[in-house]
Amino acid sequence: MAARINTRILFRNLKSISLIPRRNRVKTKWATTQPKFPSTRLALENFDVNYGTQLGDLWPSVRVAMLCERKYGALVNNFSAAAEEVMEELQSQGAMDFICSDVLQRDEVQGTTEEQDDKPLSVNGPFPTSETEEETVRPGLSPNIKCFVFPKSDISRFKPARPDSNRTLGYYLMDAASLLPVLALDVQEGHTVLDLCAAPGGKTLALLQTQAFGYLAVNDSSVSRKARVLQVLQNYVPREYWSDDRVRITSLDGRKWGELESDTFDRVLVDVPCTTDRHSLLEADNSIFNRSRNKERQMLPLLQTELLVAGLQAVQPGGDVLYSTCTLSQLQNEYVVERAMQVVQEEFGITAQVQDLGPFTQLFGDTFRFAPKPRFGELVLPHLTANFGPIYLCKLRRVH
Ligand SMILES: C[S@@+](CC[C@H](N)C(=O)[O-])C[C@H]1O[C@@H](n2cnc3c(N)ncnc32)[C@H](O)[C@@H]1O
Repeated sequence: MAARINTRILFRNLKSISLIPRRNRVKTKWATTQPKFPSTRLALENFDVNYGTQLGDLWPSVRVAMLCERKYGALVNNFSAAAEEVMEELQSQGAMDFICSDVLQRDEVQGTTEEQDDKPLSVNGPFPTSETEEETVRPGLSPNIKCFVFPKSDISRFKPARPDSNRTLGYYLMDAASLLPVLALDVQEGHTVLDLCAAPGGKTLALLQTQAFGYLAVNDSSVSRKARVLQVLQNYVPREYWSDDRVRITSLDGRKWGELESDTFDRVLVDVPCTTDRHSLLEADNSIFNRSRNKERQMLPLLQTELLVAGLQAVQPGGDVLYSTCTLSQLQNEYVVERAMQVVQEEFGITAQVQDLGPFTQLFGDTFRFAPKPRFGELVLPHLTANFGPIYLCKLRRVH
């Protein structure tokens, strides 16, 4: 009986649907939901004009790489009980730890492996450090950050990470170039660290891997995105390693940090919102190039400058701030750095100096393609053989 009623209702619905002229239905939907000019195309046109000029002959190869599938790195989770097996498995798939292998290769070329007398930093924390690590890891590169990538031109993909017996995941997939800002920040034992724009949490997780900090403040102004950071921590880090007295997680406007806590931190990571170039080229969803977000996009350099100014206020004299983005845009990169240095000098009497990251990035020249020297900082350019980035990073030391 019930089946018969349902069939009748279904038949009636079908009849009523067929009464609507098909052409109009399609036309209405088209007119209301389909933008004439998709945001991805707008992004591409914008980049062709701006990056074509900025990068010249380099732009076509960067462009084609950004339109293709990106490459990932697998950040090994030292907190997983299966970390050793995970690394063996990654190795057996043909991936290698780019941090360790790039530094080792450079040392071999320069013949410094034997002579190096600098002690590695950040060898504290719950992780054993082998003698090999002591020989190969340069000061400033935490031996606890391990990120596996497939060799150049190898476009194999990593499988999703598996949980260990404690339900802790073995690795976190991210753009391997995103680790460069964390490595360049050079967190040392006991440091107080601020991660000003932390969500979804890839760099926070890398900072936690070092276990070098004394105290870590993790912030993101978006409540929903802060929840994503929490999710990452829950999936990767046992609770005792982010206890409230060591890790504070907030959802505040980072621009206010200078007023809230000035002259406080040893290290500040300012990984700002930007035009997220790759995402904007491939995804229309939530794109910053959507017409409804035009104003927001135009205001990005101002927001970025304000966030960097807040970071420079929050750091102690003598401490370092790392500014980073995932855009190629000079307006959002070098110009923001330049403007923020002016603002802190004029308004707060703070002097900041750009640190030379040349020697640091040279270590990773086998894994990433770097742009010919930008005015300030360093820029990873996507390339089909090494399809990471774009990532811009600039390190600033607050002199006083
Ligand atoms: C590029 S993402 C950060 C990525 C993150 N560091 C990571 O590695 O996963 C930029 C973040 O800045 C946040 N944000 C935007 N405006 C902000 C503000 N005024 N204060 C703090 N965070 C802000 C956004 O919610 C976004 O999550």
